[in-house]
Parts: sequence; structure tokens; C-alpha cells
Amino acid sequence: MKNIGAELRTSLQRALSKTSAEKVEVEILAKIASDQTKSEALLRSLRDNIQAASDEIELEDIRIEMLGKKGEISLLMKTLGGMSDDERKHVGPFLNKLRNGTTDAIAAKKAVLEDAALNARLASETVDVTLPARADEAGSIHPISQVTEELIAIFADMGFTVAEGPDIETDFYNFSALNIPADHPARQMQDTFYFHEGDDGERPVLRTHTSPVQIRTMMAGPPPYRIICPGRTYRCDSDQTHTPMFHQVEGLVIDKNIHMGHLKGTLENFARAFFEVENPVMRFRPSYFPFTEPSAEVDIGCSRDGDELILGEGDGWMEILGCGMVHPNVLRNCGIDPDEWQGFAFGIGIDRAAGLKYGMPDLRAYFDADMRWLKHYGFAPLDMPSRHGGLSR
Ligand code: DAH
Repeated sequence: MKNIGAELRTSLQRALSKTSAEKVEVEILAKIASDQTKSEALLRSLRDNIQAASDEIELEDIRIEMLGKKGEISLLMKTLGGMSDDERKHVGPFLNKLRNGTTDAIAAKKAVLEDAALNARLASETVDVTLPARADEAGSIHPISQVTEELIAIFADMGFTVAEGPDIETDFYNFSALNIPADHPARQMQDTFYFHEGDDGERPVLRTHTSPVQIRTMMAGPPPYRIICPGRTYRCDSDQTHTPMFHQVEGLVIDKNIHMGHLKGTLENFARAFFEVENPVMRFRPSYFPFTEPSAEVDIGCSRDGDELILGEGDGWMEILGCGMVHPNVLRNCGIDPDEWQGFAFGIGIDRAAGLKYGMPDLRAYFDADMRWLKHYGFAPLDMPSRHGGLSR
């Protein structure tokens, strides 16, 4: 590294063709200050030196040497006090220029060096994704991700495509368009996470279900539709069977002649594939949802063998989803003629379904990021579920 301090001194002297002289500093400075060519040359040479710094440590040394408490420029600034008014008038602005020029040049160089250091790190830390995974280093797939993939595989087999929507929704998509009246309890503060009011006077919400994706799908283009939408949903709720963030998969089928028989067949096919039971016992129980008419909740038969829950048979019932024929108001809200088009929708709680299938009773543990839980319930990373390859492990 160059000794810039000493160099500044020599430059000052060389600029005046003087050899080392004592007590001439003020005089020298005054002369340089009043000679624009010389003062600029000096600043330029300082900048060149800063430019030449090869790393952040060297740059920091330069900064301390020039601008630190005992740095060359700082010391020169101190001499201002002993100058006559006339000298100060000349030298003051020059020294300021010297100090600011140096500060700026150091900051600019620092940014360049930091960028270079980051790029070098990124280049050296690349991972060769074509290398085979090492079994002892492999992580595992979270049961929710696994079950989501299972659901996608099952419904893809029935011709469904995956649709998506945002987690942060407007009142219109999350409630109004779904025929949820203004006084419906789901809109209450204690159930829904609301954001502060925006410029439009509206309060965005964290979607309380995946049903708004029905609306987004129907408003994006004309029927027919056959979509599912898996995703995150949110409600102010927290106990053993509820977490504030949870997952649902929404389904929507609209066409000319879709009726409840299709709904029933689709859901039976789903239960057969998902719970891997040849003839799952199911029950369609009349229910109410504002966005469907008629509406039903679906239970799957179950029984207990000691600690083990057996699904698809027995005389107990486990609720697994809500469904119904899409309400004509919902179709109308999306500009679709209910006399021409009709269909069904359903909403499955992914976390609940996963818990039933893989025997994970406490939903809160899903999102605690406890490595022991993940190791126990997780799935092998390269084992993608498919209906022909097998859904579960
Ligand atoms: N959105 C409902 C919920 O979050 C679930 C649901 C029920 C969705 C019936 C539907 C449906 O599409 O038809 O509780």
C-alpha cells in the first residue's frame, strides 16, 4: 500500500517545486489553494490512490490515514485555526474540497469493493445441482407439501388444473362476490386478519379461505372451468386443531350440465385415492355456505383400533370438507349466466386431511419447525407422489 499521507505532503511540496521545508505548510497550502490546476491535480492524484486500493482493509487504512482523527487531511484542517483571515479564506474552501473529494472517492470505492466481494462469494458458493444428493445430508419434505402434491396428483388425474390467487385479498373477492352478506360472522374482526385502511378506504384481508380464487378464475375468462387451488389461508384462531395460518384446496367445476352426481363422484374418487381405501364410506350432510346452494359437508367413515384411527370404514364420522352447487348469485357476480352454466365447488382443509391420513393429531406442531417432528413425519425428498407410483410412502 502506498503511503498516501506522505505522498500528499510531497505532492504539496512538489507542486511548489520545494524540497522538504518546515513551517511552510500554510504558505504551501495557500499557494496550492489559489492555483486551480495544481489543486485539481492534487485531488486527482488522491483519487487515483483511492481507486488503486485492492481490498476493503486497504481502503479503510487509507480512510484512517487521511480522514481519521490524526489523518493528514484532518491535521491540515486543524491548521486553519492558526491562519490569518485572509489565508483561511483561501485555504478553507480548498481543504473542504480535499476532504469532501476524499470522502466521496472512498465511499464510491467502498461500494465497488463490496459489490466485487459479494460477486466473488456468490461465484465461489455456487452449488452443482447435478451432483447426486448425499443421503446423510438430505432434508425431508414437510407433510403439508407432500399432501398438497398428493392432492394435485389426484385432481390432475381427473382433468383439473391448478389455479392461484394472492394471500392478501380485497373484501370483494374474499366476501362480497362469494355472496357473503355484510353482517356474516366471518367478516368480524375476531375471525379475520384485517390490514389498515388503504387510500381507497378499503381494508385488505388475509384471505380466510381459498374460495376467492373461484371468483378470480371466473372473472378472468369464460367457462368451462375445472380448477383446484391449493394455498395458505388465515384466521384468528389458535388451539390444538386450529392454527392462524392453515391450508385449503379449493375446487371449482363449471360447465353446461354439471350436477350433484358429478360432485359426489369427484369427491368419492378423491377419497378413494387419497385415503387409499377401495370403497370409502362417505356421508353428505346438508349444510349451509353462502356461496353454494344446496350445500353439504362431507364426512368420512372411521373407526379406532386402539390408538390407531382407521379411515374409510367403521361407524364414526370425520368431517373432511365443505361443498355444494355454486350459487347463482356467485355466477352472476362474475358475469356468468346461471341459466346457461352451472357447477360445483368444494373446499378441503389440507392440514386436517394430512393429520387424518398420517396420524398427526396436533396441528400446531406442523408449523413449529421442530426438526425432530419434521424428521419423524417428513417424506423422502425425491419421492414425488403420483397415482401410479403410489401416493404415500
Ligand atoms: N370456503 C369454505 C371454508 O373456508 C370451504 C368451502 C365450502 C369451499 C364449500 C367451497 C364450498 O368451495 O363449496 O370454510
